[in-house]
Amino acid sequence: MHAQSTGAPAASPAEPDPGADTRAGHDLVDLAHHGDAEVGEGLVDLAVNVRRAPMPSWLAEPITASLANLAAYPDPRPARAAVAARHGRPPAEVLLTAGAAEGFVLLAQALRGACRPVVVHPQFTEPEAALRAAGHTVERVLLDPADGFRLHPDRIPADADLVMIGNPTNPTSVLHPAADLAALARPGRVLVVDEAFADTTCAPGVPGEPESLAARRDLPGLLVVRSLTKTWGLAGLRIGYLLGEAALLERLAAVQPLWAVGTPALAAATACAGPEAVRAERAIAARLAADRDHLVARLSALPGVRVAGRPASAFVLIHRPGADRVRAELRRRGWAVRRGDTFPGLGPDWLRIAVRDRATTDAFIAVLTETLGV
Ligand SMILES: Cc1ncc(COP(=O)(O)O)c(C=O)c1O
Repeated sequence: MHAQSTGAPAASPAEPDPGADTRAGHDLVDLAHHGDAEVGEGLVDLAVNVRRAPMPSWLAEPITASLANLAAYPDPRPARAAVAARHGRPPAEVLLTAGAAEGFVLLAQALRGACRPVVVHPQFTEPEAALRAAGHTVERVLLDPADGFRLHPDRIPADADLVMIGNPTNPTSVLHPAADLAALARPGRVLVVDEAFADTTCAPGVPGEPESLAARRDLPGLLVVRSLTKTWGLAGLRIGYLLGEAALLERLAAVQPLWAVGTPALAAATACAGPEAVRAERAIAARLAADRDHLVARLSALPGVRVAGRPASAFVLIHRPGADRVRAELRRRGWAVRRGDTFPGLGPDWLRIAVRDRATTDAFIAVLTETLGV
């Protein structure tokens, strides 16, 4: 694990991506690449980590019912109260956002006074992109693949006053121990833990989400980012939220556009905070773990393929020399996987693969085996 300053432009991806968002110039081209740019007509999608399943009626009904009320401006209070109750917090410790992605922008804008922002990589690139777009100079701490991308809390600079980390982390699928993250919290620092995929994690004998800090109210400066777009297939609706100290959230709310979260998204937030949703999430996470074990076992049996760390989420990161060429060939054969070279700390030898049902995994492994020529 080592630190890297990003005053200089980051490297461009190995091949230009016509779908890339170049809103802030060339230095953000790599950070603005996301899995949705890799899917396309006729391709089996193992690149995007949004679960695709029929929407349950407890979610579809309130979203549909909300359409009758679109003439009114949205009222976030009921959804805020529901999310707060779910996480055992007062409503003032919840800020609803248009997806987790909006949360990163609010943070970057509201915390412009941060002197030493540090982003722990490899991770989802939007937190750094949002910081840079707001004018911050970002320092990277790179976790080490040889070490299974483990976090060593002592490697975060002591005077970093804004630290951003994912748990579980996209794209490594590594789940850091809650104690290691908690050790990073301190007065004078905002610690942002992106838990967009926390609902995909589970552990034997643990009733809730292992290693989540969502209910922790004792850690100074903690801000937990949550998304409802992954497990519930709501990427197009845009709904997520931030959890943290009321005073900190007030600063973020002050830079949020008015009525940022629409009425159907609020209806979804309320429904997804209910006990039925939380029970369903746990069952989905348990099934996902079995499907993930299957994918990991099949991948690990392929010569030259190494699965990174101990995957804990809805995707698996693999290392294979020449993976960029493998990705191109998979694409030619109808399969889209996520390139690794746009993630700081990875490179062209890495690919991220979404966990799907066993039949899809088996079909994928058959094509991958042919592609590798083994
Ligand atoms: C780790 C991580 N955090 C946050 C997000 C953003 O999620 P949302 O759709 O809620 O904006 C993503 C989306 O891919 C992600 O991978």
